[in-house]
Amino acid sequence: MAAPLPDRMRALVTAGPTEEPIDAVRFVGNRSSGRMGIALAEALLAQGFHTVLALGPVRSEQPELLQSMQALRAHPRATVLRFRSSHDLEALLRRELPMADLVVMAAAVADYRPAAVLEGKLKRSGSGLTLELEGVPDLLASTRGERKPGARVFGFALEPRDRLERSALDKLERKDLAGIVANPLETMDAPDIEGTLFLRDGSVHSAAPAGQRVSKERFAAWLADRLAEGLPRIGAT
Ligand code: CTP
Repeated sequence: MAAPLPDRMRALVTAGPTEEPIDAVRFVGNRSSGRMGIALAEALLAQGFHTVLALGPVRSEQPELLQSMQALRAHPRATVLRFRSSHDLEALLRRELPMADLVVMAAAVADYRPAAVLEGKLKRSGSGLTLELEGVPDLLASTRGERKPGARVFGFALEPRDRLERSALDKLERKDLAGIVANPLETMDAPDIEGTLFLRDGSVHSAAPAGQRVSKERFAAWLADRLAEGLPRIGAT
């Protein structure tokens, strides 16, 4: 078993989708259960990190997620912060990144958002509606300057299988990451994952033989071990 981490080691995990407001009640968003990031926050706590979980608007009817959230809220080394839109998440990252030794961006950030938020509740009309959308900035790349010096930052990439590796390696470079977990589109919203970890040193790591899935909880425990590697530990030489 690995030596314990120094008390000050702090991990930041983002999880869940963003909702981009159209008006006071409507939004555009994407699908994400938040399950992978929540499991990862629990696994990093078990590794000894002070862990901040930044959680988006996940659906609350998932009983096992509610249980995990309760356990995280009660844990003395855990903090749970909530965000809704990509604007909220960007502000949260700018506040939290300077303190984080390890960052895992598992949040599914919307790619587009309404260019202007309408005031109040838009009246329904039978004649349709055209929305102007603007691109959401790449949060990992655009907040790069806020990272703590020496922080290890990891991302996730959900991609069609035929371009999984190529896209993941491109994002690793473009977003200036220590590593990226690539998983095929089929595992979105699923209880299990077929993830591959690509590290900046060119090494490739898998939790299971090619083509086999593991539960997100098992994958999280495996990933937490890999992510903590290379961080200074008490008693390590
Ligand atoms: N991400 C981000 N900001 C965005 C979109 C994504 O920081 N606006 C992060 C995600 O949290 C994830 C990683 O970047 O860790 C890869 O996300 P993905 O959606 O696969 O990549 P995109 O940059 O959006 O590229 P594309 O949609 O073109 O594949």
